[in-house]
Amino acid sequence: MKALVLAGGTGSRLRPFTHSGTKQLLPIANKPVLFYGLESIAAAGITEVGLVVGDYADDIRRAVGAGGCAFGLDITYISQSRPLGLAHAVSLARDFLGDDDFLVYLGDNYLEDGVRDFVAHATLHPAAARLLVTSVPDPSAFGVAEVETTGRVTRVEEKPACPRSDLALIGVYAFSPALHEAVRAIRPSARGELEITHAIQWLIADGQDVRAETTSSVWRDTGSVDDMLEVNRHVLDGLRGRLDGKVDPDSVVVGRVVLGEGAVVRGSRIIGPVVIGPGSVISNAFIGPYTSIGAACRVHDSSIETSVLLDRAAVECAGRIERSFIGRDAVVSAPRFPYAHRLVLGDHSKVQLHP
Ligand code: TTP
Repeated sequence: MKALVLAGGTGSRLRPFTHSGTKQLLPIANKPVLFYGLESIAAAGITEVGLVVGDYADDIRRAVGAGGCAFGLDITYISQSRPLGLAHAVSLARDFLGDDDFLVYLGDNYLEDGVRDFVAHATLHPAAARLLVTSVPDPSAFGVAEVETTGRVTRVEEKPACPRSDLALIGVYAFSPALHEAVRAIRPSARGELEITHAIQWLIADGQDVRAETTSSVWRDTGSVDDMLEVNRHVLDGLRGRLDGKVDPDSVVVGRVVLGEGAVVRGSRIIGPVVIGPGSVISNAFIGPYTSIGAACRVHDSSIETSVLLDRAAVECAGRIERSFIGRDAVVSAPRFPYAHRLVLGDHSKVQLHP
């Protein structure tokens, strides 16, 4: 089985971060979300991966590596000049996929249990399409599957206004080459995209075997800042502490904390789980649980909890910051700190906070 990982797209829900980069490289616990997916595909025993990339192809190539050998994968890059839909991305990969069965994996997905069991099952019990689904409170934001008790899928709908089931398609699919005919047969949806759900519905209408498998694994499409913060919190919960940087005697480090090489903590309290990237300097500060601080950041005279700082961000005299996502090279500063602020700042932002 091959894998097709989709890492193009618009990422409109993650603006302003996606004005200057691609969402699949935004970090969860200081590691790009895309890497979690690539690692889980490698763990499932798949080696041949097509990686669909859009505007930020070069960034992805640089981060992942040209051939993917750092992941134990053989990666072929497939360029999608415009995000015309998941099924469109599959059509671009037609030559790469050949006549093999293939896994489709959305590059902004976080799935704690990975895809090993799903891939093993799909290999043992081939079907035209096998969909990984999970029960969600508001299915109308997702592709939704109607599934019989036998696991047979009778209908799929894209973001239905009145969902007929609570089973959302979570962006992991196993397909036989039969999908290619379905992709050729469908037309763009009202939003101008070739929808993978329409191709799957075409297979169902054609009488082909479409199956669903329910997962209860922790799963998030990391499409929004709140989702990113939630997954960050979850991944940090499983963190193993390791201090490679320096902590001065006036500082307190409690719980599981990763401190990267060359990072310095002075006169501060760090309460894990927290990850602080290489070369960052934390002084007279409080870093509370569920915070990821990238490389070469500065935090001074401030308190930060349940937040993410991307590389080289600086937060100085900013008071109390919570549930914030602060972009690369962003600067947050304020003369005093009587308030708690919540910030969602794009890369290179500069914000002056007033009391
Ligand atoms: P989505 O999150 O559904 O779409 P998007 O990236 O355009 O985001 P938004 O809705 O916020 O504008 O995409 C899921 C994954 O598939 C994501 O990793 C991007 C990728 N993708 C492609 O590679 N090509 C495409 O044409 C589309 C629509 C998505």
